[in-house]
Amino acid sequence: MTGSRVVAVGHYQPERVLTNAELATMVDTSDEWIRSRVGIETRRIAAEDETVDAMAAQAAAKALANAGLAPTDIDYLVVATCTAIDRSPNMAARVAARLGMTTPAAIDVNTACSGFTHGLATADHAIRAGAATRALVIGAEKLTDFTDWTDRSTCVLVGDGAGAVVLVAADEPEVGPVTWGSVPEMSNAVRIEGRPGTFGQEGQAVFRWATTELPRIARQVCERSGVAPEDLGGVVLHQANLRIIEPLAARLGAVNAVVARDVVESGNTSAASIPIALSKLVERREIAAGAPVLLFGFGGGLSYAGLVIRCP
Ligand SMILES: CC(C)(COP(=O)(O)OP(=O)(O)OC[C@H]1O[C@@H](n2cnc3c(N)ncnc32)[C@H](O)[C@@H]1OP(=O)(O)O)[C@@H](O)C(=O)NCCC(=O)NCCS
Repeated sequence: MTGSRVVAVGHYQPERVLTNAELATMVDTSDEWIRSRVGIETRRIAAEDETVDAMAAQAAAKALANAGLAPTDIDYLVVATCTAIDRSPNMAARVAARLGMTTPAAIDVNTACSGFTHGLATADHAIRAGAATRALVIGAEKLTDFTDWTDRSTCVLVGDGAGAVVLVAADEPEVGPVTWGSVPEMSNAVRIEGRPGTFGQEGQAVFRWATTELPRIARQVCERSGVAPEDLGGVVLHQANLRIIEPLAARLGAVNAVVARDVVESGNTSAASIPIALSKLVERREIAAGAPVLLFGFGGGLSYAGLVIRCP
């Protein structure tokens, strides 16, 4: 086997929907401000007992069912999250226990909003190296645990949920190669700091970086995959802001791609945003099976990781 391919996806979101109108009763904001600056209309809020690992396990179970695989078939499990509360056991171990897996390598990745694509790359690498055959990669977050609900500049942005993909060894590589990196001098621009920790960011600095630097990196991801941007069937960028997503997709030249806009209904779910958005597009069959799809995560670190997959 020389590579891996994504065979199935799944996602889970809490039932509770928080609207902009409700937020406007909590802080000094408005539906108009939030829609025009970020594009968000609603977000999902987890209940007390909907923990990161509970949501991750729900998403994973759906992805496994869609793949026709059992939890015991998985030998490499990655959970990308920046909202774990406990240091140990890690989220991957908890998810493995919830699902009744047997002996998977169980690893957490924390690169904030680029965590899912970092995790996907490491799973692909493990398969390419012969260290794994069937992998589960999950992005799961409960950002609302780390949100200051009196701070209008952050509380309107966040949401909770999880998404998962199943990856198997394949003769023809359908995942990657990854293009990844970081900007250490801007490491403090997105933060969950303190105890228990509160989300904060230099919004304008991150916005500038995302809109000026990322189009070039997104083109590199396509070049390294041998896919011309106009041949992409889908573009799934980290869902932070529609005012980043739409110009980035346009500057990339992805003129024929379905561009994920799940931020509108889900808000920013950090590492969960890409697999949730991808899973919805696949579920609705908006992207043809086999079409190349750009997945591109970016955020805290500042970090980024992008790779092209074939749509399951
Ligand atoms: C966060 C973000 C939406 C904020 O939008 P912005 O246009 O930069 O807004 P600013 O923070 O400059 O604030 C502009 C004004 O709106 C106000 N404001 C902030 N939040 C508000 C809210 N929810 N409702 C109403 N007004 C608000 C500010 O107080 C400020 O007022 P002032 O001009 O009187 O001082 C935007 O910067 C962004 O998306 N950044 C990138 C985030 C990202 O991609 N992160 C990646 C990792 S998660």
